[in-house]
Amino acid sequence: MANQDFLSEINKRRTFAIISHPDAGKTTITEKVLLFGRALQRAGTVKGKKSGQHAKSDWMEMEKERGISVTTSVMQFPYKDHLVNLLDTPGHEDFSEDTYRTLTAVDSCLMVIDAAKGVEARTRKLMEVTRLRDTPIITFMNKLDRDIRDPMEVMDEVETELKIACAPVSWPIGSGKGFKGVYHILRDETILYKSGQGHTIQDVRVIKGLDNPELEKAIGASLADQLREELELVMGASHEFDRELFLAGELTPVFFGTALGNFGVDHMLDGLVEWAPAPLGRETEDGPVKASEPNFSGFVFKIQANMDPKHRDRVAFCRIVSGRYEKGMKMRHTRIGKDVRISDAVTFLAGDRSLLEEAYAGDIIGLHNHGTIRIGDTFTSGDNFRFTGIPNFAPELFKRIRLRDPLKQKQLLKGLIQLSEEGAVQVFRPLANNDLIVGAVGVLQFDVVVARLKAEYNVDALYEHVNVSTARWVYGKDAKKLDEFRRKAEQNLALDGGDNLTYIAPTMVNLQLSKERYPDIEFKETREH
Ligand code: G4P
Repeated sequence: MANQDFLSEINKRRTFAIISHPDAGKTTITEKVLLFGRALQRAGTVKGKKSGQHAKSDWMEMEKERGISVTTSVMQFPYKDHLVNLLDTPGHEDFSEDTYRTLTAVDSCLMVIDAAKGVEARTRKLMEVTRLRDTPIITFMNKLDRDIRDPMEVMDEVETELKIACAPVSWPIGSGKGFKGVYHILRDETILYKSGQGHTIQDVRVIKGLDNPELEKAIGASLADQLREELELVMGASHEFDRELFLAGELTPVFFGTALGNFGVDHMLDGLVEWAPAPLGRETEDGPVKASEPNFSGFVFKIQANMDPKHRDRVAFCRIVSGRYEKGMKMRHTRIGKDVRISDAVTFLAGDRSLLEEAYAGDIIGLHNHGTIRIGDTFTSGDNFRFTGIPNFAPELFKRIRLRDPLKQKQLLKGLIQLSEEGAVQVFRPLANNDLIVGAVGVLQFDVVVARLKAEYNVDALYEHVNVSTARWVYGKDAKKLDEFRRKAEQNLALDGGDNLTYIAPTMVNLQLSKERYPDIEFKETREH
């Protein structure tokens, strides 16, 4: 393939995820985005909480019962001259570990805010995670067809609470029953809203220029005056869009609209393909790798079990960092130093699996995993480096797990280690006894683990209370001091699923005291794979 074609394939890609608080409209906006990408004929068919299209494995049944979505998938669709990859993230906070790691695989994020509510807890938390890499953020203020808060005030809230400057790109004309549309500041156009058209791509009416008399006719003289006045105020008080600042993660372009009414979503998409970065490189232990490098490389950020009940397999999601995947190519699994021929990588188009002929930097491919792939693993076309920066987060909830039938201890351990390699849960084996402790970020992970142990490993397990309230991965540069720490603190030490030394503390006070007592030991809240 000519170098020029290779580079244009990469440059036309945009890989992003949506961050939002539950109910802000992530699922709805995903549907509309796919509608624009022609990946859906009609909005309303994305498998969602209520559509009943979930694969029927046991734990998905469970997820359906609870009305939450824990499945992460990847959707690729064309938009204008670009190819967009949208990585869906589980909305429920119980699965925040997965969400956090998915954010390491994107190059930009769309933040959806319910404009009646403003900044909510989960958005705050997810923004913190995107700040670790200064990911560029585009903002969509949703639900303009309802009465919203003063848009200026909501933008202020974003600026002060999320520490990111706001540059309005569109500005709303009214809201709720009186929602008339938006004025696109950069295009100098008023785009008029018609209600009840949300399932389609609409033929919108556009009025060029703020002083166009058509504007008065369309929205009435008083609203038109009010709009001009508001805009004068807004332009004076807010930031202008600046691409450099956006790419540095310091400023977010803000769009207004209604996902349900499918209005304004295309403005946001236009901004995304125009401004969001083309695939970015990533760091390895041996220095950075650029997307435009010809050699294939990628890292695994998520492992998903039971995506298809007919297959009962696991799929490892690999973000291609550089180069190109081609069906049948040989890949090196660098952690185990093995070369494997991959002819069945998959992509996920709006929920459908299809076999992939080729893929480029920025794309996500699904690799079939028969138990050898872990989160954080690197695949290359022959090089031996490993990517860094795919985090594990210290769990906040702990339980001792025990078998009903004690003969299956080996199966239990195997299952737990595999589930921990997938990132479904974390497992800790204390140095001082034979307990098995399961650690999770969200309480629902516990139920998923027991259900999967039964379904996939034929192991009947139950939980008991354990006196652990927090965990930290421990490191020490000085081998002698680390050894001493290991002996003295043995009662509180454990090995995690990857045999990393971990301090498990009964209380935060205990952790604090140990930190003071062993100043040469590092206690870390995250561990990179
Ligand atoms: P989430 O994935 O972020 O959790 O949000 P989701 O899209 O499921 O939207 C949450 C609720 O908000 C849904 O209503 C959805 O229809 C509604 N919604 C999303 N965008 C808009 C919008 O622009 N305007 C209005 N008025 N509502 C919006 P629900 O009643 O919970 O579900 P449903 O019965 O409508 O499916």
